[in-house]
Parts: sequence; structure tokens; C-alpha cells
Amino acid sequence: MPRLDGKLCVVTGAARGIGAAIARAFVAEGAEVVLTDLSAEDLAPLADTLGQLALPLDVGSEEDWAALADAVPECDVVVNNAGITGLEDGAVHDPEHATLADWQAVHRVNTDGTFLGCRYAIRAMRPRGAGSIINISSRSGVVGIPAAAAYAASKAAVRNHTKSVALYCAGQGLNIRCNSIHPAAVLTPMWEPMLGDGPDRQQRMDALVADTPMRRFGRPEEIAALSILLASDECPYMTGAELTVDGGILAGSAGVPGGAEE
Ligand SMILES: NC(=O)c1ccc[n+]([C@@H]2O[C@H](COP(=O)([O-])OP(=O)(O)OC[C@H]3O[C@@H](n4cnc5c(N)ncnc54)[C@H](O)[C@@H]3O)[C@@H](O)[C@H]2O)c1
Repeated sequence: MPRLDGKLCVVTGAARGIGAAIARAFVAEGAEVVLTDLSAEDLAPLADTLGQLALPLDVGSEEDWAALADAVPECDVVVNNAGITGLEDGAVHDPEHATLADWQAVHRVNTDGTFLGCRYAIRAMRPRGAGSIINISSRSGVVGIPAAAAYAASKAAVRNHTKSVALYCAGQGLNIRCNSIHPAAVLTPMWEPMLGDGPDRQQRMDALVADTPMRRFGRPEEIAALSILLASDECPYMTGAELTVDGGILAGSAGVPGGAEE
């Protein structure tokens, strides 16, 4: 029996990367998936391959969520995956130099988008009395990241809002669960501007995961595997939890003497 048989799932930022992997994995487990992203054109190749509905949705737009609610008034699972670092153009968002516009642009997608996605989800799941909301936060939501301060703060907001949503739903007597996933570096197009395709690509990759105990990037399918578990009915007592998928990076501290080989 497929693990998500009969479930209607909405995934944001599903055109590529982690969102696309989640959409693929959900369909493979028998779910019906509504793929959403900024543009219908970007979604078309994957949606056509999977034979699923694609709808444009800018997660920071209240109007877009209202349109989604009209098109998909009820569902079982929402994955609030869409997110940006704000560093795509090589910007540095440290606490001294980030502009207010930089800060707000990141929070519009990551924080406002997750708030609106959770609100839509609660309303769309209430008629069914049950559901699963999966918020893709980050390991950056648990620790400070000086060069990506806006991103880190936004992912911390996602982590905390997940718990408010979980408690609210339980308090309402709803069997709607809400949990957050905290990946570390997962190899998706998000990293491409930083890696480039020059001869030093591998060196850059190695440097980026040098402090990760497992010394490699994660794969989008590894986030999708955990998302299947959360979307399924297999862990109905889990809500308000934060789950790391990070090669062990949050298990320890760089400040602790005596690392693996030192
Ligand atoms: N890749 C990583 O290393 C990593 C690590 C931790 C957390 N995450 C989080 O995982 C999620 C997915 O990341 P990814 O690596 O797949 O990124 P990605 O850049 O490869 O894909 C993100 C997708 O979100 C879409 N998107 C961007 N802004 C949007 C908006 N306003 N509305 C709707 N869609 C929008 C993009 O069009 C794109 O398809 C993000 O929330 C990210 O912060 C990623």
C-alpha cells in the first residue's frame, strides 16, 4: 500500500530542488500533488511528467494564497518549502551592512510565506479535522549565520512559528500536526551561484562541507524521505517537532576540543 494513498498535498517552490524532490516522492507514494511555484512555465516540465496540477503561487502574496484557496479549498498536507537566501546575487547580509530592503525581501518569502502557508493549511484541513503541515526551515534557523543574518532569522521564525501552529491546532482539538525540517547543505540549484562550474567547483564543494561531520552535501531525496514520513499517518503523535537532516552538524560544536581526527 503506498504510504500517501489518497492524500491531497500542496507543495510550494516545487519547480526545482528540494520541493521538486518532495513532489516526486509524494506522487511515487500515491499522493495527488498540487505543485506551486512562482511561474507556471517553470513548473510545467515536472507537473507534466508527474501528471499533476501546477498552479503559480508567490508565497509572499496574500492574493495568491486566496486564489489557491479557491482552487484547492481542502487538502491533507501542505509543505511550506519555498525559500530564498537573498544571497543569489553575491550580496552579504551581515548585521552591520544588510539593508532594510535586503532583510525584508528575505522575510517576505521565508517568514511571511510560511505564515500564509500555515494559515491556508489550517483552513484547508479544518473541514477534514486532520492534516500535516511540513515547514522547511534550516540548520540556519537554530544557529547564527553572520553573513546570512536575514536568512538565519527568517528560518528561526519558521522554526518557532511551527510550534505555535502545532499548539494552536492541538488546542483547537484538530488532528493537524505541524513540524519543521532543518536541513544543512543540500545540493540544489540554490548553491549554483556559489559553486560555479569552473575547475575549482569540487574544491569549493569540499570547503563548504568541511565542518560537516559526514563531510558531504545532503541530497534532496533525503529531505523528501523524511517529508513522506511526516505527511503519512505513521507518526500521528509527532507535532511541534524540529527534525535535523544535516550530516550531524548540529549534534556537536566546533568549539569542543578533540574533533573526529584532531
Ligand atoms: N539547499 C540547501 O542547502 C538548503 C538547506 C537548508 C534549508 N533549505 C531550504 O529548503 C527550501 C528549498 O531550497 P532549495 O535548495 O530547493 O532551493 P532552490 O533555490 O533550488 O528552489 C527554491 C524554489 O522556490 C521557488 N521560490 C522562490 N521564491 C518563491 C516565492 N516567493 N514563491 C514561491 N516559490 C518561490 C523558486 O522558484 C525555486 O523553484 C528553502 O526553504 C531553503 O531555504 C535549503
